[in-house]
Amino acid sequence: MRVIQWVSAIVAITTTFAAADDLKLYLDPTQPVEVRVENLLKRMTLEEKVSIIHADSKFTTPAIPRLGIPRRWLSDGPNGVREDVGPDNWKPAGRTDDFSTWLPAPICLAASWDPDLATAYGTVIGQEAVKRGKEIMLGPSVNIQRTPLCGRNFEYLGEDPFLTSRIAVGFIRGEQSQGISSCVKHFAANNQETDRFSVNVEMDDRTLREIYLPAFKAAVQQGGVLVVMGAYNKFRGQHCTENDFLINHILKGNWGFQGLVVSDWAAAADTTEAALNGLDLEMGTDKPYDNYYLAKPYLDGLKSGKYPMATIDDKVRRNLRVMFLTHAFDPPTDTGSINTPAHQATARRVAEEGIVLLKNDHDTLPLDAGKIGSLAIIGENAVTEFAHGGGSAAIKSFYEITPLAGIVRRAGGKMNVVFSMGYSHDHPSPDLADRAVKAVAQVDAVIIVAGLNHSKYLDTEGSDRKDLSLPYGQDELIRRVVKANPKTIVVMISGAAVDMNAWLDQTPAIVQAWYPGMEGGNALAAILFGDVNPSGKLPATFPKRLADSPAHALGNFPGIFGTEHYQEGVLVGYRWFDTKQIEPLFPFGHGLSYTQFAYSNLKLAPATNGPLLTVQCDIANTGRRDGAEIVQLYVHPEKSSVARPDKELKGFAKVFLKSGQKKTVAISLRADAFAFYDMTKGGWLSEAGDYSILVGASSRDIRLRDKWTLPQTIFAEEK
Ligand code: GLC
Repeated sequence: MRVIQWVSAIVAITTTFAAADDLKLYLDPTQPVEVRVENLLKRMTLEEKVSIIHADSKFTTPAIPRLGIPRRWLSDGPNGVREDVGPDNWKPAGRTDDFSTWLPAPICLAASWDPDLATAYGTVIGQEAVKRGKEIMLGPSVNIQRTPLCGRNFEYLGEDPFLTSRIAVGFIRGEQSQGISSCVKHFAANNQETDRFSVNVEMDDRTLREIYLPAFKAAVQQGGVLVVMGAYNKFRGQHCTENDFLINHILKGNWGFQGLVVSDWAAAADTTEAALNGLDLEMGTDKPYDNYYLAKPYLDGLKSGKYPMATIDDKVRRNLRVMFLTHAFDPPTDTGSINTPAHQATARRVAEEGIVLLKNDHDTLPLDAGKIGSLAIIGENAVTEFAHGGGSAAIKSFYEITPLAGIVRRAGGKMNVVFSMGYSHDHPSPDLADRAVKAVAQVDAVIIVAGLNHSKYLDTEGSDRKDLSLPYGQDELIRRVVKANPKTIVVMISGAAVDMNAWLDQTPAIVQAWYPGMEGGNALAAILFGDVNPSGKLPATFPKRLADSPAHALGNFPGIFGTEHYQEGVLVGYRWFDTKQIEPLFPFGHGLSYTQFAYSNLKLAPATNGPLLTVQCDIANTGRRDGAEIVQLYVHPEKSSVARPDKELKGFAKVFLKSGQKKTVAISLRADAFAFYDMTKGGWLSEAGDYSILVGASSRDIRLRDKWTLPQTIFAEEK
């Protein structure tokens, strides 16, 4: 071939590649994500790169029309899509198209112990987020309940890392299945609201890895969560949102997280730390957008060489990766949906499965509608709407069925229902209690709907409770009502334990209803009248007194001189109560049913590949009603080289049984079920030796037990 032909061929090939290289591959949804990321990254100017890693309004990042980068919307929250605010402040935007389904508070979802239901829950939010045009949804919130006083306990998933992890993973799989991103929060150790912007948390590595990180690790490695939100507080002296150890070493190093880290709103605090310690998206800073820590100060530092260009490219890669994975660039395949009958049904099902029957002496419940001629409903919480409260988890709900509305609807005019306020959060008056006591004297049954609300220093973001007590004189009201009519049921609306000592013994039935969502009144009525058999189980210990709780027994809450030492270590919740042999009011995992379940035939079968052991047992419904039981599996080390909790939840199974039916439940255990975090080795040590395998209906209602020997010690690197 003559030279000219060679040269022409080479030019043609080069031109083709150049043309191909110039193809906007990033706009082709059939291209691999990483190809799209690199193809777009190289086209961006430095200014454009910096522009997309910080906000341009309360809940958005800017578009770059030149490149077809869309404006990106983020939104709260963990139990529904929040109403729009701003654009540059927290005031409602005044829209009429930003109503959403208000799902039961996440603590209620956790009380269902149903990861599949958590997937349905997340799917509802994901579908509504698509409809509302949101790419990143700011939930689930997975901070461990270290104290019953934390104002955001209603938003979290309880005291146990294993249960929290299972529910969070289910939630994320559901929400992200809709083509948007979840955001697991608040990373990490954000377990109180007191001084939340400044408190410095100190704990040892074992406590961190065994208790406060597992749900985040599961969210990343099992849920595939694309966004993690850095918390407000400090950890070991550095803001969590810009924390080298938590973000660079653990999240992105050990766990291999490839998504993006977003700040909590106004949690960023320093350009250099944000630049170098893994913050990828800055939101909510109290500054003009161009003066954000990752805006002009960072741009100037990149230009001056103070910050390596590699830092901005990594941040932008992570943002673009999430955009491509959430199809922000691609035409939506689904336009989403809002407040459909299916969404309403999920909201109701979560309430039905999450409401916990705490006490039911003499089969007080369920009420027999055929025999009840008159019913008194007492309490401000029977008529209060809760959707719009609690802080960033608030929802502009299409509707809300209150307890009174649900009960009246269920009564269906077949009985005489009266209501008396009994107490009031804003117009307290002894007359209210007097009138309530009169109202109950002659009726066949009484339902008091008591508890907390989303007022400051109760169940709300930004403050913690002062104590466990019921506000507004409710203790005295309940005592007087129960005395006037012994057939009284107390329904508790709250995100965590309250002090019940003043009336517990005199009250035959108690129901924990949490904040049960927009279908809550219907779900509660269905349970009270027996249409639904309650199956919820407590995701957190209810203590008899606050001083019995570890964070309070050791006097570390809410921190001394700005630092909070988690001195109780891994002994959080039932780990503390059971190890210290302190009797709780109601234990972790507790919840009654209208039927009874028998446990039998425990078998421990050594497994071969993967799991070490399969635990099998039979569960029979020996009562007259169909129902669901949550079989819980705890592991107790007979001996250990370190101090370990008396028992730890390592498996559970929710099984539905018709009356008289029996099923076999099998739960597999891997080495990690026997492990503790060995700080000297920096990994997970499952020591050879004897372990008790405990199977029960709660952490203190163990029905079956057997011993198993781990033949050899197993060590697993943290990864
Ligand atoms: C809040 C919360 C966080 C929320 C964010 C945006 O302060 O801590 O959970 O997602 O700000 O509202």
